[in-house]
Amino acid sequence: MNLMVLILAAGKGTRMKSETPKVLFRAAGRPMVDYVADAASELGAERINVVIGNGAELVQKHLAGRAEFSVQTEQRGTGDAVMAAAESISSFNGKVLILCGDMPLVKPETLKAFMDAASKHPVAFMSVKVKNPFGYGRVIRGVDGSVIKIVEEKDATEDEKREDEINTGIYLCDSKELLARLEGIDCVNAQCEYYLTDIVKKGAFAYLCKDEKEFLGVNNRVQLAEASRVLWDRIAEKHMMNGVSVLDPATFYCDSTVEIENDVTIYPNVFLEGDTKIGKGSIVYSGTRIKDSVIAENCEIKENCLITDSHVGAESHIGPMAHLRPGSVLKGDNKIGNFVEMKKACMGEGSKASHLTYLGDAEIGKDVNIGCGTITCNYDGYNKYKTVIEDGVFIGSDTQLVAPVTVGKGALVAAGSTITKDVPADALGITRAKQQNMEGWVSAWKKKKGVE
Ligand code: UD1
Ligand code: CA
Repeated sequence: MNLMVLILAAGKGTRMKSETPKVLFRAAGRPMVDYVADAASELGAERINVVIGNGAELVQKHLAGRAEFSVQTEQRGTGDAVMAAAESISSFNGKVLILCGDMPLVKPETLKAFMDAASKHPVAFMSVKVKNPFGYGRVIRGVDGSVIKIVEEKDATEDEKREDEINTGIYLCDSKELLARLEGIDCVNAQCEYYLTDIVKKGAFAYLCKDEKEFLGVNNRVQLAEASRVLWDRIAEKHMMNGVSVLDPATFYCDSTVEIENDVTIYPNVFLEGDTKIGKGSIVYSGTRIKDSVIAENCEIKENCLITDSHVGAESHIGPMAHLRPGSVLKGDNKIGNFVEMKKACMGEGSKASHLTYLGDAEIGKDVNIGCGTITCNYDGYNKYKTVIEDGVFIGSDTQLVAPVTVGKGALVAAGSTITKDVPADALGITRAKQQNMEGWVSAWKKKKGVE
């Protein structure tokens, strides 16, 4: 079947009360229109045309390379939106599937079933029976059961408002018939809007769907939260069926783009975002957010960590309360403890920084121990400089490493040192004032003051 998918995404989205175009609002971490565009690609559409208007540049920029665009200059209803793509439709011979950019829950398999059932009809749409039809167009059928019209809520009589079959806003039409029917519809109300729903007046096949949840059209932020919840539930279920233990699916916020291997355990209240991968056997504890990062096998990410654009090698222990900023690379068997921050820093196998440390712009070898309170002083207010710590080095607690600086293989830096010059391999680096002990000084001083 020659297929063109038309995605309506020009609407004002007035009820979102925002500068951001509605279809770019994120449901479960991704802009709503992405789910719709993904479904269109999965159906094997030859052409994907997105009707843009409100926030046109932003929506076009977001979908660039994935679709062609038609611009609706004034938002005068869903019928007018389809007319904005008339040129594109008239150059196409086949089926046009119309989807709304604000319906992120529709599954490709549902669309496939609809298209199979509707392919013989020149004009078809999906409907569904719902518990609360508020806000949707009602499907009105005649005594013989055929569709007479779709009535928008604001134009409906009390009787019509009680109707529980609604229009989902999804249509499948022959391209030529669609254009012919569009020409035949009149504008309504003071704003002279064109309702796409009017194309069914000359007869249409209504495909009644079962799952009302899939057809949630997001008009406000309450519905956006509802849509996110449904998506997160679906994602949690998928991972659980794949062998991931999600202790509390209701507080598992995982993007559809995330990969998780089996035998991973996720504690409550965890966010996994973007291009993230969690390896087999790892555990992620509560309050952690991981974005665009790889956590390899058998790692333990303890409570309240933030990890972005980083790589955590196998068998590592991170946190609690650790911060891996972009470019942190741990080669494996590492320990990054509480209140440790890393940025553009790599660490060889078996190295540790267990407490209260900042490692930025650093290259750290294997089996290095970074003592509590170590700071790489990487910034002079103008430029960033690199610290190199070679294999087997021991950095004592409360050390400042003023970059650029290198600590050679196997060297030891004494606690409390401020290192401004390179430390050669195997050397002790120490910068400390000599300790003096003055015997009996305290009691003598107290006596002089006249205090006990
Ligand atoms: C529409 C349907 C209603 C259906 C409901 C399902 C019409 C007249 N009404 O109502 O029967 O039950 O969807 O969710 O079709 N858009 C444009 N340009 C416009 C107006 C809208 O591109 O001028 C786009 C919007 O961006 C959105 C979609 O069309 O993606 C639906 O618009 P919306 O205003 O949400 O229509 P509803 O009132 O929900
Ligand atoms: Ca809507």
